[in-house]
Amino acid sequence: MSDRLHTLSGYLYEYQKSVSQPEEFWARIADSFFWRKRWSKVLDWNFEKPDVKWFTDGKLNITENIFERQLFTHADQPAIIWEPNDPDETGRTLTYRELYEEVCRFANVLKSKGIQKGDRVIIYMPMVPEAAVAMLACARIGAIHSVVFAGFSASALADRIQDCKAKAVLTSDGNFRGNKKIPVKAVVDESLNKASVETVIVYKRTGQEVTMKEGRDYWWHELVEGQSTKNQAEVMDSEDMLFILYTSGSTGKPKGVVHTTGGYMVYTKYSFENVFQYSPGDIYWCTADIGWITGHSYIVYGPLLAGATSLMFEGVPTYPNPGRFWQIVEKHKVNQFYTAPTAIRALQAFGTEPVEGYDLSSLKVLGSVGEPINEEAWHWYHTHIGKGKCPIVDTWWQTETGGIMVSPLAGITPTKPAYATLPLPGIQLCIVDADGKELTGNGVEGNLCIKFPWPSMIRTTYGDHDRCRKTYFSTYKGMYFTGDGVKRDHDGYYRILGRVDDVINVSGHRMGTAEVENAINEHPLVIESAVVGYPHEVKGQGIYAYVICDMKNRTEENLVNEIKDTVSKIIGPIAKPDKIQIVPGLPKTRSGKIMRRILRKVAEGITENMGDTSTLLDPEVVNQIIQGRK
Ligand code: PRX
Repeated sequence: MSDRLHTLSGYLYEYQKSVSQPEEFWARIADSFFWRKRWSKVLDWNFEKPDVKWFTDGKLNITENIFERQLFTHADQPAIIWEPNDPDETGRTLTYRELYEEVCRFANVLKSKGIQKGDRVIIYMPMVPEAAVAMLACARIGAIHSVVFAGFSASALADRIQDCKAKAVLTSDGNFRGNKKIPVKAVVDESLNKASVETVIVYKRTGQEVTMKEGRDYWWHELVEGQSTKNQAEVMDSEDMLFILYTSGSTGKPKGVVHTTGGYMVYTKYSFENVFQYSPGDIYWCTADIGWITGHSYIVYGPLLAGATSLMFEGVPTYPNPGRFWQIVEKHKVNQFYTAPTAIRALQAFGTEPVEGYDLSSLKVLGSVGEPINEEAWHWYHTHIGKGKCPIVDTWWQTETGGIMVSPLAGITPTKPAYATLPLPGIQLCIVDADGKELTGNGVEGNLCIKFPWPSMIRTTYGDHDRCRKTYFSTYKGMYFTGDGVKRDHDGYYRILGRVDDVINVSGHRMGTAEVENAINEHPLVIESAVVGYPHEVKGQGIYAYVICDMKNRTEENLVNEIKDTVSKIIGPIAKPDKIQIVPGLPKTRSGKIMRRILRKVAEGITENMGDTSTLLDPEVVNQIIQGRK
């Protein structure tokens, strides 16, 4: 049964119902799933603690809802179409039956290695179907997966392994990305000098040489050999953890966002079907990596729960040439295409020539996610990719929200460039001013909060519940605070304005300024640093670092390169500062607080009207910083 909305009035009606009778609303949606035991209560909640429970006492397994629930009708339909990095390599298609069998086989492997319900398993893999198999096999046996983006460094990986006390790491020998062959297992080995796990399972992708530690490391293909293609799914409680996904915040250490089973399942399928208006037989493609929440909710869980065909791409948009995305759209006749503004801007820079010559007429819906989409990129996407006929769904959401919160429903909600438009049913937004006062009516601007629970929301931060309370539920009493600024225009449409905290968004990836500063400070010659974001043409925001250091005998260039390498080693290449300015001092107030607004202005190129600097310990520092601007 589909809960797809078809008209604007239908959406408005359902939205009203979802607000006036939320429990009845979600119970109706949840009833189309397969529950081993139905819930006794739809919702229990308290935003002060916070303590949120959806479908209390409900028992289920999310993979039974992907497979058993649908196998009679979907068995031979493609579940995953995999397109490799190199267009000359043959891709793969896994039907629902084939995917089911792979998941069962690998679930049996995990069990044979002693992994049990509740154990944590790290997945550090490239974009191959086995990465999805790994996630689903964990869910099948009730193990909690934590996918770590395969571009993160050994040190970042070790931190995550330690934080969740993982029992196993699932990985690959290497990874193809563009014209590069990247070592993956070697990074895992390095991380395991610091952290430790019982088992490492290695999927062979590139064939490059790796070291295997006896009694700990095993080849994926050897372990699955001879395993049964059946596996009895573990019966999970609706509120049992499904996965942990680490994300950056305004404090130094990434936190493990926890999502649970029942609510996440209900919301990802519902939002997928409605936002993308997926019809049976459509080919849907989301270009994200499974290392991010977009990959979890809208490559794996949402589409597969909806019985969709989800295309998975291993490579990058510009290899072997900047027409690669469009060649894939033509080849697989993609109907829904979901990507990030940074990819659109990067491709836009090559002009329209790489697009021309490809037949993009299969496209029905275009999606955008991860950062605000600027109007120019929106129009380029709409005109040159969608040929003026595909609605753009600008989807606003977060790792913590689990699913899309604000977005047009494709072809139903009238769109407006750069606006995420309206909330999905069940999502009760609230705009507040700095004092937490709700700003009612239209034509207002403030901080975006959500005042009522939704099924796929964050439940806790792994191992530190109080951090969850402090970060999201304490800024504004009784509300979930998103960290984003927002405007509600005269039509009641929402436009996301970007983060209002110390989080920067680089190419759609979240980076905490404190996290980058901590990494910079690891360089032995660095005394202190301050990091801010600045507008970047392709990445949305770039990373600008002001660093005080002891130069020793280094040239500035050498030191800057060494600092970049340090950040790469500690977090990963995605966190490398775009600009590093060596400064004699930082603008600090008498109480020792860095006045970041000045640093942001200078990074943006503003060198006048610095505002009130009278509370600075040494106002002269500001001039020195302006003069040395990069
Ligand atoms: O600032 C918002 C921005 O990305 C943040 C969430 O990042 P992350 O948890 O990594 O999840 C990204 C993918 C869901 C948000 O707080 N953001 C995400 N989508 C949009 C956006 N900003 C503007 N428009 C969007 N559509």
